[in-house]
Parts: sequence; structure tokens; C-alpha cells
Amino acid sequence: MITYHEQERIFKLDTPNTSYLIGIVDEENFIGHIYYGKRLRDADVSYLMRTEEAPFVPSGNNRERCSFYDCFPFEYPAGGTGDCRESCLGVRTAGGHAGAMLSYVSYEILEGKPGLAGLPATFGTAEECATLKLLCEDKYVGMQVELLYTVFQDVDVVTRSAKIINIGKEPFYLTKVFSACLDMDNRDYDMITLNGAWGRERHIQRKTLGYGIQNVGSIRGESSHQEHPFLALVDKNTSQESGEVYAMNFVYSGNFRAQAEVSQFDYVRMSMGIHPENFCWKLEAEESFQAPEVVLVYTDKGLDAMTNTLHKLYRKHLIRGEYRNKKRPILINNWEATYFDFDTEKLLSIAREASSLGIEMLVMDDGWFGRRNQDDCALGDWQVNEEKLKGGLKYLVDEVNKLGMKFGIWFEPEMISPDSDLYRKHPDWALAVPGRPAAQARQQYVLDLSRKEVADCVYEMVAAVLRSANIEYVKWDMNRPLTDIGSLGLPADRQGEICHRFMLAVYEMQERLTKEFPHLLLENCSSGGARFDPGMLYYSPQIWCSDDTDAIERLEIQEGTAMLYPLSTMGAHVSDCPNHAIGRVTPFETRGLVALAGTFGYELDVTRIPEDDRKMIPEQVALYHKYNDLIREGDYYRIASYSQNHKFDCWQVVDEEKKESLVTFVQVMSRANFKSRRILLKELAEEARYEVRFVNDEKIQPKVYSGDALMKAGILVPELHGDFRARLIHLTALD
Ligand code: DGJ
Repeated sequence: MITYHEQERIFKLDTPNTSYLIGIVDEENFIGHIYYGKRLRDADVSYLMRTEEAPFVPSGNNRERCSFYDCFPFEYPAGGTGDCRESCLGVRTAGGHAGAMLSYVSYEILEGKPGLAGLPATFGTAEECATLKLLCEDKYVGMQVELLYTVFQDVDVVTRSAKIINIGKEPFYLTKVFSACLDMDNRDYDMITLNGAWGRERHIQRKTLGYGIQNVGSIRGESSHQEHPFLALVDKNTSQESGEVYAMNFVYSGNFRAQAEVSQFDYVRMSMGIHPENFCWKLEAEESFQAPEVVLVYTDKGLDAMTNTLHKLYRKHLIRGEYRNKKRPILINNWEATYFDFDTEKLLSIAREASSLGIEMLVMDDGWFGRRNQDDCALGDWQVNEEKLKGGLKYLVDEVNKLGMKFGIWFEPEMISPDSDLYRKHPDWALAVPGRPAAQARQQYVLDLSRKEVADCVYEMVAAVLRSANIEYVKWDMNRPLTDIGSLGLPADRQGEICHRFMLAVYEMQERLTKEFPHLLLENCSSGGARFDPGMLYYSPQIWCSDDTDAIERLEIQEGTAMLYPLSTMGAHVSDCPNHAIGRVTPFETRGLVALAGTFGYELDVTRIPEDDRKMIPEQVALYHKYNDLIREGDYYRIASYSQNHKFDCWQVVDEEKKESLVTFVQVMSRANFKSRRILLKELAEEARYEVRFVNDEKIQPKVYSGDALMKAGILVPELHGDFRARLIHLTALD
């Protein structure tokens, strides 16, 4: 609900348990951030803006205007006029001058939520959400800014974005456009971020927030393996179960910065948006620039509550398409099975064996097109290699379909190999700065998708393949960052637009794809999980999580990923051992139980794995069918974290009605002379009685306990003999 309190000039935005307050102050209509936190009855807490304290507002004390700017809690601070904390908006006029300050003009309260042109964004109906549009301006620049705030009725989320409009006669340049900012008092916060590398994506990092600027970001043209478009400020004592959390997550997949700045007065400015490095957007008269959306979550109930809020938001208000609430077909991907060394017969032999074990879809990965027999050529030549696929693609797909399986295919549409027919024909289609040889990565260049003819041509090649056979799944990969950001399609003063234009083009291509092929299951991927973000989730209900498929490495990767994103989105496969990324050997059973916490599938040559492993596949398939509804739709709770205790990992899912729950326990290194481990379960119905069954250990007799006891006293997980062993525990409420 959104209300405007005219007398006090306060906007009050309420979600079920939180309030967000904005105040308009002084004759000059400054837009101040008053409050974000637990839901308030009252609107007038405007004293939090401290306008009664020196230096007072400029109308009463113009000689200290600068001091006012430097401490006022702005909703959307612009740079260059006196607020010396980092701003959200950088503007340079045609004359080369910097600086802006926004003042409030008018407002609109809308039912529902308008879309953001060309960008992924959360959505909701008129009953589910309401939007405040604040119109502000800087008359000296000739600029209007629309600040958009949406509150949801079924989930404690506020989303924000900003649109900049040139209402003057001259062009001006945007040198920085962030999407959201929270100016608050610092209460000795810790800062939580997700950091990593290829094969080690999204590890949780928590550290003390100190004075000055601390940030995470990406200038790789992708949200990246290394840092993640997420930032949370939490109280020192915030745990999974309790404590305050302020979180921001960016619905964007390109360059970003997420930042916290603790200023001289112990205020903290938390902000997020497109990374300003190499960003400069020219706005001609009457043109506008739409910034992507930031999701804000506040809770005083700890990290589990933040997680479940985000999961619910993304499941209900971000992910689209036929598969968003549907069980996904269990797939087998040939990448780790064959790499580039395959042909029709090899793929069919895998499919035959897989279908007999209950696997439902064959995905043909990299290497089926052009002369692509290794990773050094042919990206851009999206024509089937009929020497490998004898009889053509349609023949292969039909044969797979005859086995009762679906068929999926891999593309890397954003890239071009120097050794490709496409590059030989259009060498200017790769991003490059004229006169400087562009840097190769994995022996490939990035296509200049900021040029429409390039994006259209690639889209048509991809679509032609999809139209040629019954292809029901696409893995859309992207295997290198953007560098050498130069385009022959844009004039000199628009070269700073390329990274964002590239991202807009990728979104447009994926939008076209999902419209033209509405039944397609799209899985995004980026050299493992370099583009696992809410932006991509708007187009694909699942994203490949990491190229590291080792079950133990996956514990930390999946813990960090699941802290923000629903389990239904996490691409997770059982692969062969020794693991190709790290060489570790883990039990096949454990690999299955860890992958079960994601989309679930296989990535191995099922015709060549040990017989004992193969025999286990039908059981794993049965577990998937039995529990996937619960895993996909249930609330997810972190019970123990291997990354913190260095001993074991444990997570739990509970259905909405608390009738059923599934607990996965993974013991990492086993130790001599150890007893059982006691774990406390979460969010069961206190008064209900649950039958507790150790699914993969029939020797342990099922027992019945109350929800109260399971949560307060916990259960004992008997000691496991051997490293990397796992248990699956199922709880059913008895009537
Ligand atoms: C990177 C992906 O993460 C892998 O799964 C695989 O598709 C390769 N690319 C293929 O080149």
C-alpha cells in the first residue's frame, strides 16, 4: 500500500511487514530518505532526516548549503553540487560541465507495476502490487528523473529504478546512473557479498563494514564469476534465524557496482547500479534512459527470511514461461561425457542407455556446428556439421524422440571465432577498438551486438536451427568477458554506451526466442555460472550454476546461490569421477543427493560409468520425481554450513503447509570415534507429529516426533562411515 500524507509531505510505502518512507523538504523540494525497516503505524518520523539540526535546510541557512547537501539523507543523490559522498547520478552537459541536484515536482500512485522498456524486471498485478512514480527535475540541466518504487502485497519487497529524461534542447551525457540508494544511520553493520572465480562461484563473504567506500562490482560485461550483483548489510548478531538485514539484488546481467559508504557522521549510503567505468550515455533532447531495477529486502528475522523473501519474489514475480512452476525434464548433457568427440551414433548410444534408466532429455552441447572439433574455431557458424551428425540434425532429434526423450541443444550466440566463416565475412562484427588488436579469450571475440544487423543475423541463424527440428531445450552459453569495447556502429561520443547496449541486445534476443518458441526450456550459462543473476532469470527459469560439478565443491557454490535464488533455478548435474574439474572421487549417491537440490540431471557417459553407479540412476530418478515438487516450491532453510564449520553441510525444505519436509545432510571428511550429529530442524508445525524417515538408509527405523521436539531438541544423524557421505531425511506430518 502507498499513501501520500499531504500535510507532512511524506510518502509511506508499506509491505506486509515493512515500511519505506520518503519526505519532501524545504522550499526547494529536496527528496529525503526517512526510513526503511519494520512496518510503522505512523508516517511522521521525518525527524530522522535531521533537518532541525544544524546546518538546517538551505532556505533557512543558505551560507551552509554545502554542509546540508553533505549530510542530508537523499533518495537519489546527484553528484557535483556539494554532497561529497558517492552519488547515484553523474551528468555532464554539452558544455562539459558536471553537477546536478534533484527537486521534487509531482507524484503518481499506480496500481500494479509498469514494465521497464527493454529490461528484465519483476512484475505483478493490480491486486499484488502498487507503484509510486516520483517526478523530479534539475532545471539547470534540463533533466527530469522518474523514480519508481513498487511495493508487493504478498512479499516484503520494495523494487526501485530510475528513468532519466532530457527535457531541454541540448544533449547531455550521463556518466553514471545508479538505480537505488539507501541513506541510513550505520549501526555497526557487517557486509555480506558473494565472491568467487570460475569453478568457485558465489561463495559467501561476511566482513565488518568500516569507514569509507566498500564495494563489489563487475566491469567484465557480465555479472561475473568473481563478484555478484548483491549486497546485504546486517547487524553484527544477525544469524540465519534472527537479526536485521538490508539487502539489494540487481535485476541486471552486465557491469554493476554495489556499494556501501560509511561517512564522517556514521551514516551509511548503500547503493547499486550500472558500473560507471566505461559508461557514458548521450541523451538527445526528448530522449530517456531507463536504469535497471534493484530489489530491496528488509527483514529483522535473519538471513533465512531474506532468502525466502527473494525466492518467493523470483518464483512468483520474475520467472516466466511454461516451466516456471513445472518439474523440468531430467536431462543428460554430453559435455563432460564426450567434449567435442561425438557423432550421431555416440549420442544415440548415450540416449538409448539414458532413456532405459529413466532420463528424459538428451542435450547436445558444444561441437555440433561448423568445423568445431575443438574450442578454437567456428563460433558464429551456426550450421550443423553433417560429417559429425550423419543424416542431419532432424534425424538425430527424431531418433531421440522415438526413444521417448526430448532433445536440447547448445549455442553461444554472443561470440565469434577468428577462425570462422562469419568472421572471414564480417571481421568488423567483433568488438574492437580501431587500430588495436582485440584480446582473445578462449580463442574467441565478442560480437558487437550493439549493432542491430549483427544481433538480427545471429538470431536468425539460431532460430533457423530451432525451426529445423523438434528442439525443446536450449543452453545459451557465454564463455568470455567483454573487452576492447569499440563499435563501428556508433559515433565517438556514444562508445560509452556499448556495454549496456550489448546487454539490451542479449535481452532482446532472448525475449524474441522465448516469444517465437514459447514451449522451449531455456537454460542460461556463462562459462559455468558467470551470469547467474535475476536479469537472466527473467528469460530462463534455470541457469547453469558452475562448471565445477564436484559434489563437495558444489556445497559452497549452491549454498551461496541458494541464499538468493530458488533451488528450481540452480542447474545441477551428477557427473563422473574423478571429477573433471578437481579430480576428487565422491560416492555416486552423494553426487545425486547434492544435484537433487537443483534442477537435476546427468553429465557423464552413461554407457561407460561403473555398473554400480549406473544401477543407482533409476533410484535417483525416482527420488527426483518423488521430491522435486517439494524441492522446487518449498521454503528453503540453511541448517549448517560446511563453509563455516568445515565438517558437514545441511539444508532443509519445507512445504507451505508444513506437512512435508526434506533434509539433506552431507558429511564431508569422516573422523574416527565419532558419535551422531545433532541437527535442529526449522519451520515445522510445533503441534504436528512427524514421521522421520532416513530415505537412503532403510536400516534406521522411521520414528515419530513432534514438530516442537524436532525444532528444539532436533534429531540425531547417525555417524557415517567414509568421506563425502550423505543422508536424505524425509518428514511427513501424520494426520
Ligand atoms: C562452458 C559451459 O559452462 C560448459 O557446460 C560447456 O557448455 C562449455 N562451455 C562448452 O564450451
